Amino acid sequence: VEVKQLHRTGFHFQPPMHWINDPNGPMYYKGVYHLFYQYNPKGAVWGNIVWAHSVSKDMINWKPLDPAIYPSKPFDINGCWSGSATILPGEKPIILYTGIDPQNRQVQNQAVPANYSDPYLREWVKPDNNPIIVPVGGMNASAFRDPTTAWWSNGHWKLVVGSRRKHRGMAYLYRSRDFVHWVKAQHPLHSSANTGMWECPDFYPVSSSGKSGLETSVLGQNVKHVLKVSLDLTRYEYYTLGTYDPRSDRYVPDNTSADGWSGLRYDYGNFYASKTFFDAGKNRRILWGWANESDTPNNDTSKGWAGIQLIPRTVWLDTSGKQLLQWPIKELETLRGEKVHISNQQIKQGDHFEVKGITAAQADVDVTFRLSSLDTAEQFDPSWVDAQALCGQKGSTVQGGIGPFGLLTLASENLEEYTPVFFRVFKASEGHVVLMCSDARSSSLRRELYRPSFAGFVNVNLADGKLSLRSLIDHSVVESFGAQGKTCITSRVYPTLAVFQDAHLYAFNNGSEIVTIENLNAWSMKSGQIS
Ligand code: FRU
Repeated sequence: VEVKQLHRTGFHFQPPMHWINDPNGPMYYKGVYHLFYQYNPKGAVWGNIVWAHSVSKDMINWKPLDPAIYPSKPFDINGCWSGSATILPGEKPIILYTGIDPQNRQVQNQAVPANYSDPYLREWVKPDNNPIIVPVGGMNASAFRDPTTAWWSNGHWKLVVGSRRKHRGMAYLYRSRDFVHWVKAQHPLHSSANTGMWECPDFYPVSSSGKSGLETSVLGQNVKHVLKVSLDLTRYEYYTLGTYDPRSDRYVPDNTSADGWSGLRYDYGNFYASKTFFDAGKNRRILWGWANESDTPNNDTSKGWAGIQLIPRTVWLDTSGKQLLQWPIKELETLRGEKVHISNQQIKQGDHFEVKGITAAQADVDVTFRLSSLDTAEQFDPSWVDAQALCGQKGSTVQGGIGPFGLLTLASENLEEYTPVFFRVFKASEGHVVLMCSDARSSSLRRELYRPSFAGFVNVNLADGKLSLRSLIDHSVVESFGAQGKTCITSRVYPTLAVFQDAHLYAFNNGSEIVTIENLNAWSMKSGQIS
């Protein structure tokens, strides 16, 4: 297979070739970060799934190892699907994953390191007591997968397996005293009507104050819990914040956290099958997500590769207690090269100006905009509940009052192609509504691509008149963080002109009100050691 370099990423993780999907079992062990991921060793489409394995000291530069888990036993002969790692007392990592058995049932298996003193944990052994959890009774054996990291509470290990009962999304709960014998609890940890299969559930505590992460078993007064699920039906992820009772083993979402389709999102774009882990090295919780291609499967095959892992994000609770915040891990900054700085630059209606002097196809941009007045904001219609539909209607070229303003990323010189990442501010009966968009419609001259106008609302107070935006631009991906990580949007785009040295970066404003760039820092990004 000849691997095409066009659109491959420089600092986002991808193997040298072939298909990847979900990040699996991320963990920190003896000073080393481990990333496993769903991988097809034989091609650029989904299939033949094994757990590929890479290790790193910083989650930015990677050393590839041989696949850690691959079909070898009856309980996983038809595939080794997603799962998680748990660090047992005595610093003993253990992996739980879904195996596809000879009847194509989804069962849960364990794997343990062959040699705990190997910091790279190269070799994994599957004990003979596998499978440790099987679907029984009325359970759906083809929708029963992706075990979470286990947590310890009330004298038991507990974990969740994603499933559905008819159309009801389910997080089945299992308990064990010894990590070997697992018993299904009578009640699921949580479930929700008409949400379909819950893939890749994730359940973890967050501290109610500060940025520090919590080990997965931490409970207590100053702790909230997060339940995240990946919805097979929409291919979007939703999370709620809520309260976990370790005695009844029930999770109840807060009344500020909409449960189901209309809930909170880590990312309003191409971000799926994510998983968090507690990084004991730096006391933080790290979130890892996968971005599928938005190219056609035929093109994926001719390129010889498909799928990337997004930049790991630190995740913590916003002071409002109503949402999470996310920010790229600080280690990413070690790849920053040449820097451009702009300050106090006004952008008038219809203007755009170029941020010159960096490699615009592979860059990190961090900008703070200042709005002088909010008076000219357009009126918000309360029926506009769907941010993506609103962005589709009010794109980057549709003139407004306050905005649209923001960045034109991966832009060709004469703007035949560009991926705008931008804000638009509306006046509402109570305060203001801020819309953030990452719009792929104008990203490529190739019309057959999937080019959605991804968008989310930003729950931000505009009292100081400031709005910030950070975008990580990497050839075929634009990963953006609005208002210090309140709203995040990832787009996959495939420009034909705005590639390599011919890609440009602009700031723009199409609102009647002048917008000032208070500060803009942009860096060329070096490539990470990835494969
Ligand atoms: C999510 C998913 C998981 C499954 C894995 C198979 O993308 O479908 O539910 O375990 O991928 O590769």
